[in-house]
Amino acid sequence: MKSISTTQYKIFIGNDSFVELKNFISEGKYSSIFILVDENSKKHCLKKLSIGNYKPSIIQIKSGEKYKNINTCQKIWLELSKQNADRKSLLINLDGGVITDMGGFAASTYKRGIDFINIPTTLLSQVDASIGGKTGIDFIGYKNQIGTFAFPKAVFIIPAFLNTLSKRDFFSGFAEMIKHGLIADKKYWQKLKTTTPSLLLKEKGVRDEVLSGIISHSIEIKNEIVLKDPYENGFRKALNFGHTIGHAIESASLKTKKPLLHGEAIAIGMICESYLSRKCCGLSSNEMDEIISFIISILNPTPINYKVKNLVAMMKQDKKNRESEINFTLLRSIGKAEINNSCSEELIEESIHYFIESVKADK
Ligand SMILES: NC(=O)c1ccc[n+]([C@@H]2O[C@H](COP(=O)([O-])OP(=O)(O)OC[C@H]3O[C@@H](n4cnc5c(N)ncnc54)[C@H](O)[C@@H]3O)[C@@H](O)[C@H]2O)c1
Ligand SMILES: [Zn+2]
Repeated sequence: MKSISTTQYKIFIGNDSFVELKNFISEGKYSSIFILVDENSKKHCLKKLSIGNYKPSIIQIKSGEKYKNINTCQKIWLELSKQNADRKSLLINLDGGVITDMGGFAASTYKRGIDFINIPTTLLSQVDASIGGKTGIDFIGYKNQIGTFAFPKAVFIIPAFLNTLSKRDFFSGFAEMIKHGLIADKKYWQKLKTTTPSLLLKEKGVRDEVLSGIISHSIEIKNEIVLKDPYENGFRKALNFGHTIGHAIESASLKTKKPLLHGEAIAIGMICESYLSRKCCGLSSNEMDEIISFIISILNPTPINYKVKNLVAMMKQDKKNRESEINFTLLRSIGKAEINNSCSEELIEESIHYFIESVKADK
């Protein structure tokens, strides 16, 4: 087992981090324990969770981004109230990023805040959503509009949980790992490029080991950035690479019958924003081509047909903006991000058309 420290909490990584979970809970400081799950984490992960003699209460909600909203939060608060959760209760978020975001938000606001821990069970939540202290829900069609900065008391990463994850969800998480390499660590980017093709072909045991290595590398990158700027006043914005355009695409897709997964939208966002990086931030054309061809070959992004002007209008609503300018994190080169860039609307539209043409050419 490996552990990574942040200023507020520890992250334990490895299939044996159950031991630390038991220790954490058996300190006896909690009056009651609640576990938040959806139908999938209940089926695949809950039974494997051992927390000693405690009898936790289970709160189950429906899976999916479309339930990451205030109605589901009310349901969680209601369950906590009905079962007399008090200021000394603990909420365990056992699932992907939807539940770690929403459970963290529900816990941080219930009775002015109760303790919560995250046990992320998707690749995306293990490398990204469960760490860093951003909690939240979607509101009036926009991603993460309501939320808090609130830190878990601990995070337990158990790679074996990923064995039941769908291929689509696996690659959605892989998109955020690619982002970590692109914004902060060229060597890690190269490692991902060489590891990935063979990763999925390996047998379970070997795969777990390779995966544990790259998961902890990704967490280290994110953690280092968050440590320097926990409340996103400056360099933490580097983590938003691919997310200005990606969030608009994700929000637009959520209104259709074929919603994209978060990482799928971010993959498209990274392609468009690599194009913008070439135009506005000095990224070389060789590196732009390298990034885009790897993302297309590994993540196989879906063609989109949303109205490009509507996407730009949605970007104007983004929390990341200052005044009326759309704010971007772009790449100067692979491994070096630059925050607070602005680009003209024409260029933003051009970047989305560039993506549309690139996937057409690849099919
Ligand atoms: N707070 C942050 O810093 C941050 C960072 C990145 C993403 N996010 C958020 O994370 C969310 C996306 O998270 P996600 O990709 O984990 O999606 P998700 O939470 O919707 O999980 C994906 C699917 O996998 C299922 N699942 C979970 N664990 C499983 C397992 N072990 N086996 C089989 N199925 C399992 C879930 O039920 C769900 O259907 C988005 O809402 C995004 O905004 C937050
Ligand atoms: Zn993301």
